[in-house]
Amino acid sequence: MERTLVIAKPDAVRKNVVGKIISRLEDEGFKLVALKKVKLTNEQAGQFYIVHKDRPFYGELCDFMSSGPIVPMVWEGENVIARVREIMGATDPSKAAEGTLRKLYGTNVGENAVHGSDSPESAAYEIPFFFSGIELVG
Ligand code: CMP
Repeated sequence: MERTLVIAKPDAVRKNVVGKIISRLEDEGFKLVALKKVKLTNEQAGQFYIVHKDRPFYGELCDFMSSGPIVPMVWEGENVIARVREIMGATDPSKAAEGTLRKLYGTNVGENAVHGSDSPESAAYEIPFFFSGIELVG
């Protein structure tokens, strides 16, 4: 069964909508496998988003992702990576479809409430970044 790493970002934590994000993923039928609350350093955020290191927004992204607590979680289900990306909507909340998590809870392209792995390869890097084997309870 496929797994994906989802993060309720600092803006979602500040807006008190972490529970709404979790509820939506539960309502879709996915299984919660792991969850924690952490605050990253700027360097840790940079490591997590290392694939974006040459992008112009990398510094801004690292500053934002280390600006407050986040809630990383692992969700399991059939085709969960692609389905969660649909449920999140477009990266820019102003372009995201009605009813998607980013449309509902995001502010702008940087502060977009939620992250989800974009491929099985990304999930294989992102899940162990936050969780050890014994923390993954399927
Ligand atoms: P995420 O899915 O977490 O993956 C990379 C993040 O970079 C993305 O969501 C956005 O929050 C952020 N991002 C993408 N494009 C921009 C941009 N133009 N300006 C600022 N942040 C961006």
